[in-house]
Amino acid sequence: MKKILAVLLAVFMVFAVCACTDNTVENNNGEVVDNDVQNTPDDTADDDKIVMATNAYFQPYEYYEGDKIVGIDAEIAAAIAEKLGKTLEISDMQFDSIITAVQEGSVDFGMAGMTVNEERLESVDFTISYANGVQAIIVKEGSPIETVDDLYEEGVSYNVGVQLGTTGDTYSTDDFGDERVRRYSNGNEAVLALLGDSIDCVIIDNEPAKALVAANEGLKILETAYADEDYAICVAKGNTELLDQLNAAIVELTADGTIDTIIGKYIQ
Ligand code: ARG
Repeated sequence: MKKILAVLLAVFMVFAVCACTDNTVENNNGEVVDNDVQNTPDDTADDDKIVMATNAYFQPYEYYEGDKIVGIDAEIAAAIAEKLGKTLEISDMQFDSIITAVQEGSVDFGMAGMTVNEERLESVDFTISYANGVQAIIVKEGSPIETVDDLYEEGVSYNVGVQLGTTGDTYSTDDFGDERVRRYSNGNEAVLALLGDSIDCVIIDNEPAKALVAANEGLKILETAYADEDYAICVAKGNTELLDQLNAAIVELTADGTIDTIIGKYIQ
């Protein structure tokens, strides 16, 4: 009996050790990588660090290079953190969890190529905008969808793929109806569905669209865009102290050219 207990205990301990050391996540290339630095912290009260929530499947704004999250947002956030005298920590999560995380205070701010809109302004506050975005449409080469207007034609039933909880999701749900929208956890998955013919197009921000088209053969972006947007950082409603600090940092980093330099590194 004792022996069995000892074996059970040993097995349990091995599992326990595995459970707490497994910090792996899947990166953009589908590789499983160690994500030590990006794990959601539970001690954001720590004065020296500032925690950003993002969804790192959105090249060139945030994406994995090996096990590191890089990109425009990651670099601008690091520059902001430096101005604030804090160390930046990035917490990668589903895009549609970011606002909740900010509201609950498990992170300090959300930065994810996030578009400012009325609906979100009811839940969080936004800084001044630091970049612009455009919703673009990706189709397969030779697709019968040639312009955005084709999606609105009477009697068509093209299915649209989007990333869950993005403006691409809300706008296309409003415009084409729930039954024509397929929601994926990131743009890569939506593009895989397009390549596999389960959907007819993908609506996603223009720069990530370019990265996805460059990484996959047989796709193109329609020339007509779907919507223009402003990207900003969100903080918990009423957190004016942080909002003011972030705004001041954005103003300075715009004035001294840092933001333009960072954007120029990723977008030619
Ligand atoms: N701009 C769009 C939005 O705010 C998409 C952002 C998706 N960002 C991301 N990191 N996956 O809804």
